Amino acid sequence: MKVTVVGAGAVGASCAEYIAIKNFASEVVLLDIKEGFAEGKAMDLMQTASLNGFDTKITGVTNDYTKTAGSDIAVITSGIPRKPGMTREELIGINAGIVKSVSASLVEHSPNVILIVVSNPMDTMTYLAHKETGLPKNRIIGMGGALDSARFKYRLAEALEAPISDVDGMVIGGHSDKGMVPLTRLATRNSVPASEFISEERLEQVLQDTKVGGATLTGLLGTSAWYAPGAAVSGLVQAIACDQKKIFPCSTLLDGEYGLSDLCIGVPVVLGKNGIEKVVEIELSDKEKAAMQESAEGVKATNSLLQ
Ligand code: LAC
Repeated sequence: MKVTVVGAGAVGASCAEYIAIKNFASEVVLLDIKEGFAEGKAMDLMQTASLNGFDTKITGVTNDYTKTAGSDIAVITSGIPRKPGMTREELIGINAGIVKSVSASLVEHSPNVILIVVSNPMDTMTYLAHKETGLPKNRIIGMGGALDSARFKYRLAEALEAPISDVDGMVIGGHSDKGMVPLTRLATRNSVPASEFISEERLEQVLQDTKVGGATLTGLLGTSAWYAPGAAVSGLVQAIACDQKKIFPCSTLLDGEYGLSDLCIGVPVVLGKNGIEKVVEIELSDKEKAAMQESAEGVKATNSLLQ
């Protein structure tokens, strides 16, 4: 199993690290445009192998896509991250050009690759990767919902005063401050609805805190987060590499599911060796349907900015 990670910045390096630590991939290629940068990150990570007990071989390359040839999965993290006060949508101008050329180069050298898009604005970049490469929709996956759901579970555990392993919850919709749809109605603590333990007001606060999860971190760090994004990507990569058939909310091209078409947005999907093996359609409440509709309008407005 060969995995390429494009962009050796904090998110890309975290992805490579978590993939290696989980020890399911034989090879990870880390690629960056900055001379020597990916090589340095790869060497540093390889020097953790004996300490962390993994055999995954990580190599770094400077913009040489021939070294990515034959990748089973490729993760696109390249582009600029947001700064405090910026929305993800504001990154479109620079990141669209980067995602376009990166996705084309990846597919040129690995025609059977499954792409995972992380660059922001993620739903629009996933849509752009479709337009650019023409890959079938099961082979282009946008990473947002897995991360947003992890942030949701963090906030739920905090509100419920429960260990994180005891809580479950999912965020669908666009990967944006306004567009996320955390499904508080379905959130549970050990299969008991979260609403049995906390008030509607407290659950609403969890929802609001989740939606600005990335922005809160950007304010604290001065740039966007990397540990949870890297871990979320590694979860998707593992589900595909190990054919786990796990459900994650991911951004995927919809064709009528959830009443939406011609956009990529976060919905629950089954991930296995073919990438997105199924879109899981769950019955939403009227309030959730309205939130999803509004989220889709936001994503489409951002898509319309593509040249
Ligand atoms: C975040 C970025 C990865 O939410 O979009 O941290």
